[in-house]
Amino acid sequence: MTKRVAILISGGGSNMVALARSMQGDHPARPVLVLSNDPEAGGLAKARALSIPTFAVDHRPFGKDRAAFEGALQSALGTARPDIICLAGFMRILTPDFTAGWDGRMLNIHPSLLPKYKGLHTHARALAAGDAEHGCTVHEVTAALDDGPILGQARIKVQPDDTPGTLAARLLPLEHQLYPAVLRRFASGDRTPVML
Ligand code: GRF
Repeated sequence: MTKRVAILISGGGSNMVALARSMQGDHPARPVLVLSNDPEAGGLAKARALSIPTFAVDHRPFGKDRAAFEGALQSALGTARPDIICLAGFMRILTPDFTAGWDGRMLNIHPSLLPKYKGLHTHARALAAGDAEHGCTVHEVTAALDDGPILGQARIKVQPDDTPGTLAARLLPLEHQLYPAVLRRFASGDRTPVML
């Protein structure tokens, strides 16, 4: 049975594009919705160009009422009926109530070698720590931020002249390889981590 995948974005959506493009042929999943918290997110136009249904729930009118914002997300998701949610550059923190409702069915990509550097500014933190290696991680989303079971990682060597920008730029293409590889396995019921 083909798995239905909703992809949540906040910005350019390059990971969303990589995921969407991977879901064809004998892939066990198909994209059914691209959902953003920002109506101006560049990734929405990219999704439309890929003929994927889109929706936006602007988080700003909800202020600090995360539950109300997430209620609107759930309503959009209810229409699309996804089996799996992929967070891909989605920059809103989700409440434990929301994550509990998608337990075991929601993935995220984070630009660090978790469990190192949960949260923001991961590239700058890896450089400040003098790490020889950096990378990205796809993990199952749980109530704790950037903390769920790891489903895949990709590694890069840190160069002496690296900046947060050069690290991010070298890492992004690897994210575009890792996330689709993890989704394909996950959608087929295989949770064996992908290591690139
Ligand atoms: C990526 O670096 C990803 O690791 C992080 O958000 C950034 C932008 O992703 N979660 P995208 O181009 O919007 O997919």
